[in-house]
Amino acid sequence: MIALRFNDLRQHSDVLRLRTGTSVTVRFVEPRDAEALQAYFRALSTRSRYNRFFGAMSELPPAELDRFVHVGEADRFSVVAVMTLDGAETIAGEARYAFDAETDSFEFGLSIGDRWQGQGVGSALLGNLECRVAAFGARRLFGDTLRSNDAMTGLARKSGFAFTHSPGDWKLVRFEKYIDVAPQEIPCASWRLAVQQIALHASV
Ligand SMILES: CC(C)(COP(=O)(O)OP(=O)(O)OC[C@H]1O[C@@H](n2cnc3c(N)ncnc32)[C@H](O)[C@@H]1OP(=O)(O)O)[C@@H](O)C(=O)NCCC(=O)NCCS
Repeated sequence: MIALRFNDLRQHSDVLRLRTGTSVTVRFVEPRDAEALQAYFRALSTRSRYNRFFGAMSELPPAELDRFVHVGEADRFSVVAVMTLDGAETIAGEARYAFDAETDSFEFGLSIGDRWQGQGVGSALLGNLECRVAAFGARRLFGDTLRSNDAMTGLARKSGFAFTHSPGDWKLVRFEKYIDVAPQEIPCASWRLAVQQIALHASV
């Protein structure tokens, strides 16, 4: 994995333009987001929460929330996709991705708030995750989802992921994508630049 220093990236955020013309900003979660993030998870429909966490839960357990907002610890990262609504920043989606050194892969999970589903936010966020993973120099991005989750399997298929069985649980299906992108070809300008700056830093 490329040694991107998280401290250098703390302020890093990306503005994504959706097909509807709306802009969404993807940024790392910060400790100050704890309450808003928990409110976001509570406001998800029961079905969306079930699909996100593969089980019935009304909110994130406190220890898990704490891990979500301490980004970078144990090579685990959380991002939120935020929009400005009536002048206030609103969480429209979130994703968490974790590095597994043994397989040189990032595993991820994501959710989009029910009112924003079907508008391209999931596609945009997943594309942004691919750039983040490429910037870290990892080889593969993968996730598991319930076989019954048509929206996630549809999103994964559309985004070019291949399907395989998920070890250990027949109710899940795994989707994976090999990320074979040279740093100078990362398709998000901000991450291409981040990698170039780090490389420059390392060479002086
Ligand atoms: C799965 C999820 C992230 C998709 O995000 P989204 O923003 O709604 O998806 P998008 O609008 O970007 O759709 C992208 C593509 O996914 C597929 N898709 C999205 N919703 C779909 C649905 N309900 N049924 C079938 N395919 C669907 C389509 O191919 C779509 O492309 P199209 O709009 O050109 O047809 C979102 O539905 C969600 O958060 N669900 C609850 C949590 C969850 O299931 N997380 C996955 C756990 S890993």
